[in-house]
Amino acid sequence: MNNLGADGRWPDGFADGSVDGDDAVAPPTAFRDRAVASDAGIYEAFATEGPDAWRRAADLLDWERPPETVLDDGDPPFYEWFPDGRLNASANCVDRHLDDRRNQLAIRWFGKRGERRSYTYLDLHREVNALAAGLRERGVEEGDVVTLYLPMIPELSIAMLACARIGAPHNVVFAGLSAEALATRLDAADSAYLITCDGYYRREDAFNQKSKADNARLRMDGDLDATVVVDRLGDALDVPLGDDEHEYAALVDAHDGEVVEPVARDATDLLFVMYTSGTTGRPKGVEHATGGYLAHVAWTTRNVLDVRPDDTYWCAADIGWITGHSYGVYGPLSLGTTTVLYEGSPDYPDRDRVWDLIERNAVSVFYTSPTAIRSFMKWGAEYPDAHDLSSIRLLGTVGESITPKAWRWYREHVGGGDAPIVDTWWQTETGAIALATLPGIAPMKPGKVGPPLPGIDARVVDEDGEPVAPGEPGYLTIGSPWPGMLRGLREGDERYRREYWVEADDGWRYRTGDGATVDEDGYVTILGRVDDVINVRAHRFNTAELESAIVGADGVTEAAVVGDDDGQIVAYVTTRGDVDPDGTLRAAIAERLAESVGDVARPDRVVFTPELPKTRSGKIMRRLLEDIARGEEFGDVSALRNPEVVGEIESAVRSE
Ligand code: WT7
Repeated sequence: MNNLGADGRWPDGFADGSVDGDDAVAPPTAFRDRAVASDAGIYEAFATEGPDAWRRAADLLDWERPPETVLDDGDPPFYEWFPDGRLNASANCVDRHLDDRRNQLAIRWFGKRGERRSYTYLDLHREVNALAAGLRERGVEEGDVVTLYLPMIPELSIAMLACARIGAPHNVVFAGLSAEALATRLDAADSAYLITCDGYYRREDAFNQKSKADNARLRMDGDLDATVVVDRLGDALDVPLGDDEHEYAALVDAHDGEVVEPVARDATDLLFVMYTSGTTGRPKGVEHATGGYLAHVAWTTRNVLDVRPDDTYWCAADIGWITGHSYGVYGPLSLGTTTVLYEGSPDYPDRDRVWDLIERNAVSVFYTSPTAIRSFMKWGAEYPDAHDLSSIRLLGTVGESITPKAWRWYREHVGGGDAPIVDTWWQTETGAIALATLPGIAPMKPGKVGPPLPGIDARVVDEDGEPVAPGEPGYLTIGSPWPGMLRGLREGDERYRREYWVEADDGWRYRTGDGATVDEDGYVTILGRVDDVINVRAHRFNTAELESAIVGADGVTEAAVVGDDDGQIVAYVTTRGDVDPDGTLRAAIAERLAESVGDVARPDRVVFTPELPKTRSGKIMRRLLEDIARGEEFGDVSALRNPEVVGEIESAVRSE
């Protein structure tokens, strides 16, 4: 049987909005009436038009040369979207808004210390141009990869746009990653330019980011031609600059008022690379092309998140990851809306910080993760309840499955009881949202991400690639290309093909790495990763990446890492006979993880065990360890090579 419109058809009752099971929640009429996407015919239109339907997305952009061809699929799986089109992403996010709203706010920034800065589109234009001119003067040319290692400050968005303006792909490295991780990414991306900062605040403390960047430079195989350093901390931290290091403000001042003509790029040219965890311990460089990516991101920001220019919109994700790229920077700015950018943590100075910012800015669309929502729930409804959140029109969530309970809490306490909540499924590789209910068209089902978007040929299939029956678990795959898809991997074509694609009888199929079920209405429930990737604390890690770092601690023999229900990292560790598994070793393990990956990878729990549970062929039973960490029931373990260790591990976990 078909599911998810595998033949381009939708289950009866879906497209006319008549999905009305017990679990379905209709979008409020007031929302539907003014939603951007309110015509269910859009599904039918995409199904009949095929890839050409995506011209709608391209039409949201300004093109230097409009594309005549929508998709070149002559050499699968190397697809090219809008191949003969030419455009510039920075011109689309900045210049084109100057006629209509040069004095409208583009970015409202709130710093950790209560600082505020605002940029109108005109301000943004001025600074992006000045920085672009400065980067050029420092030697950056079209095609050179510029690495950005910055916290959530406006200079990060500005630097991305300045790079895009001169056709220099950016490579943003999350500020919390370690020197070692930065060095690996600089080398892997062949990047000779770095933009970083002196440091940033972590709660009360000034934290030195530049010294991490210096360490990375010492460790890397290549070298840097120029480094630009943002002065984030002023007098709180003085970092000496070398001859090839330039202060950001001085560089921008020197070029203030200069205008750099945006470089027209082929739609298929690289806009950015983003390193993420894959099926091996080494991160892979996901490459996104300029035209397809920007078109898909703009289209979904409008049609899924319902964002328009007069909204004040806040995507709370860090720009260091894909969500921040697509929905914190490129999506909202390409549409000319006002975005909130927040540097701090949600509970500092108090646990109502997020609600305070929503109220203060009259945020109408808010996009965050289930991890954050879980914290909000834990802290209590009194925090949001004490604020006027009536400006909220739509709420979004992304990153992992949201439980129906958290979904309802979010709607009740943040969404005023009736705001639509769009649960959006996508990945670094998909570039933009691929599955979600269109909030003005279809009812939502709490806990389910919903059907694939129009034009996304998602299918849940079994081992043989056959669609599974409703309710049966299978693998989430995508049957044909979509505009926001990665154009390849930095590691080369072979790795790209091997990592993601299978050739089936009816064409090439993209493997997402997620398990899923689909219900009678075509709504998808995500079951989680089926490969060795874990999503914890809104970060994505490969288990081998973490485990090899742990094994680097002296005295450790083996390690297995899992995520638990609270998004925590749990490490199971075996040690050499002559080593005491004690607090010192725990600290050493945490240190190894912090050094090799970053502070974000410090484990919440380290469980010492005499052995790890293994199958007869020697594979570590990570599923079982995950069940134990989560305190869940698990099945028969008699097929293990060492079933007797299971009891010991359980009691070790319990005595934690
Ligand atoms: C993985 C991708 C781009 C989003 C941020 C994470 C999981 C993402 C959902 C969702 C259940 C989700 C999947 C996916 N995921 N969205 N709405 N419901 N799971 O990007 O780091 O590339 O991770 O996040 O497992 O494969 P990422």
